[in-house]
Amino acid sequence: MDPAKSAGIDTDSMTLTRFVLEGQKEHPDATGDLTILLNALLTAIKAVSTAVRRAGVSDLFGIAGTTNVQGETVQKLDVLSNQLFINMLSSSYNVGVMISEENEQVIVVDEKRRGKYIVAFDPLDGSSNIDCLVSIGSIFGIYRAKHDDHPTVDDALQPGNQMVAAGYALYGSATMVVLSTGGPVNGFTLDPNVGEFLLTHKDMRIKPRGKIFSINEAYSKYWDQGLHDYVKRCKYPPGDKAPYNARYIGSMVADVHRTIVYGGIFMYPAHAKSPSGKLRLLYECNPMAYLVEKAGGKATDGRQRILDICPTGLHQRSGCYLGSTEDVDDLLACLQGAK
Ligand code: AHM
Ligand code: MG
Repeated sequence: MDPAKSAGIDTDSMTLTRFVLEGQKEHPDATGDLTILLNALLTAIKAVSTAVRRAGVSDLFGIAGTTNVQGETVQKLDVLSNQLFINMLSSSYNVGVMISEENEQVIVVDEKRRGKYIVAFDPLDGSSNIDCLVSIGSIFGIYRAKHDDHPTVDDALQPGNQMVAAGYALYGSATMVVLSTGGPVNGFTLDPNVGEFLLTHKDMRIKPRGKIFSINEAYSKYWDQGLHDYVKRCKYPPGDKAPYNARYIGSMVADVHRTIVYGGIFMYPAHAKSPSGKLRLLYECNPMAYLVEKAGGKATDGRQRILDICPTGLHQRSGCYLGSTEDVDDLLACLQGAK
């Protein structure tokens, strides 16, 4: 009798680290630096996940008493997650500069620990959902530094098409990391008993067309006509087609994850009240656009591919429409038709 089998234990499981290491074989020049960096990120994510799960009993709900660079109230879990990301990434010896939603300026890693990668991250996105136990997440995008010796803000302001890897962690009914290092998108679920992320969703692909539209309709009085036309089309489709379903969690990681898994479209537009949109280009829109494209979908700000936008500011905002290709194309046709 095989004791592991009878106990339901996989003694040869594909962990995220093992998966990334095996992927290196396809790149003979790979140094392993990105793997080390990702490992550091995973440590931060596991610690954030533990804190999120224990928040109620560890007095980690509620506000920290400060506001961030965007003037938003900072939650205790925001502060803790940001510290974890910064400390783990700086001590990976592979990061030169970090951009965080919570820090006004770039975070330049101490010279002795500096490495060649740039990481843009939102350590805990959707924090307004924390106290009511709705899913939240972390988002990250990784770039190579343009200057080896002295990293500057210029290294941080690269278009998304320069990313070498991106991913998110979703703290939902389970904790999951969804990652691409340039190839397919894979999903890894945290096994809390082993403390490792195990490959559970291999080569995630977005359907060409979905049945769900996702937008905060409360702002519809500020929308352009084209967006009104598109949402109307979702509710009253031509012919005898069934209307789309509406789903909006208000937590980008959860809304985008659902879009990747079920298909459909997620929209956070720029509108009359918020002319640049709400979501931040470097650490929210770009990593999500990268993953959606790698999964076979499309991501646009309504005028151009999100990944081709050349950023001019660290906390620059962008309109964001992403998801199934045919759904995004329908939206673009409405946006253009209304001009
Ligand atoms: P945050 O970075 O302050 O948490 O805000 C970003 C969040 C996203 O997760 C979500 O898509 C969006 O804000 C929801 O905004 P709204 O409440 O305006 O619909
Ligand atoms: Mg955010």
